[in-house]
Amino acid sequence: MVNKLTNEEQRTTLYTTPDEPTIPGSVTPDTPVEMLNLNWSERDLRERERTKHVHRLHPYLGKYIPQLVEVLLRKYFAPGQTVFDPFAGSGTTLVQANELGIHAIGCDVSAFNVLLTRAKTAAYDLECLHDEIKDALKQSQVKNDFSQLPLFAHLESMNGKPPDASNYLRQWYAPSALTQLLAYRDVIETGDYRYKDLLRVILSRSARSARLTTHFDLDFPKQPQTEPYWCYKHSRTCYPTTDALKFLKRYSLDTFKRVQQFAAVRTNARVEIHHADSRNVALPAIDGVVTSPPYLGLIDYHEQHVYAYQLLGLEDRRDYEIGAAAAGTSKKAREQYQSEMVCVFRNALKAMPDGGQLLVVAADKANLYNNIAEELGVTIEHIIQRHVNRRTGRRAGEFYESIFVWRKQG
Ligand SMILES: C[S@@+](CC[C@H](N)C(=O)[O-])C[C@H]1O[C@@H](n2cnc3c(N)ncnc32)[C@H](O)[C@@H]1O
Repeated sequence: MVNKLTNEEQRTTLYTTPDEPTIPGSVTPDTPVEMLNLNWSERDLRERERTKHVHRLHPYLGKYIPQLVEVLLRKYFAPGQTVFDPFAGSGTTLVQANELGIHAIGCDVSAFNVLLTRAKTAAYDLECLHDEIKDALKQSQVKNDFSQLPLFAHLESMNGKPPDASNYLRQWYAPSALTQLLAYRDVIETGDYRYKDLLRVILSRSARSARLTTHFDLDFPKQPQTEPYWCYKHSRTCYPTTDALKFLKRYSLDTFKRVQQFAAVRTNARVEIHHADSRNVALPAIDGVVTSPPYLGLIDYHEQHVYAYQLLGLEDRRDYEIGAAAAGTSKKAREQYQSEMVCVFRNALKAMPDGGQLLVVAADKANLYNNIAEELGVTIEHIIQRHVNRRTGRRAGEFYESIFVWRKQG
């Protein structure tokens, strides 16, 4: 029986929760849903904890916080079970599941997100990783210094632009920064490294920071910033960067530290990530789903990391993105979103046992999720409202999101 709640009823749930926010580590399968207060404020859950270890390996707009995932996994899953995230994104579900000894399968249509998730969840020989990170940086500096000699002459005839780069790269990077990034890329792509994906993440993160952007618009810069500008973030005149090496150095250190921190809590639970469309990815048996789907018409997930696609030559499958910002929020887009979500969850349900749980985190502005549940024929057990007090990134501010707790009917 599908139990539809109006927005008003859903809001009411919010105010009947306990005063004290839930401590994620205290949740067990026996914790009543009514006792969950997931409205953590900035004071309850500092940015440092929300972005702990590998969760901050690379910026990614549109992720959910690990503590919310931890609560859902502790309440609805047990170690040794398998959780599936059809919209794995930056891998939050997979990382948290692994921490709790739960096997995890993820799927994402965006090649960069899959690369990032693989790098976050892999098991590393830390000594070897340390040597590789150091070596890649050193070799790229050697290559860069060497390439400066003939490059200067070459640059003059090319209007200061380095060779062998796409128009996008030439437009968005100062020649010196691009030369450094390309040197690092060549070193990792031609070198004999065991952990190339992690090195690619360091490169991508550095490339993101080294773009010709203002400091206050790193998420969606519209055009390259080539002149000094008044910076709202720092209240002074700032200059677009010409140096990528400082970022490569900074993120090399930070990446190693974060991987080391995760290694201390990593378990041997299996992690599997597929670069595929979750409407039709072939799945082994799973016990349930924890996910935060793309919101309708809000973010273009490929575009967000366009610099990584350009630098690393990753395959672009943006046409398969569900709910992409580019498709808008029209009636037609809403209908399409709904039917595509139904396909995704139907595919997951086929691999799940009766009684299995689907936990879907979404800000359902267009009121589509109850219809989706109805089409799927799942039981709506709860809709938990969460007051999101603060988020990192451009969407900082207040809003509500829902956690749909669905069960596969027998
Ligand atoms: C809201 S994000 C997920 C964020 C994730 N929970 C995290 O914490 O990083 C939604 C993801 O869905 C992916 N996506 C969109 N359409 C897809 C499809 N058809 N199949 C698989 N993934 C898709 C996007 O690439 C994006 O990474």
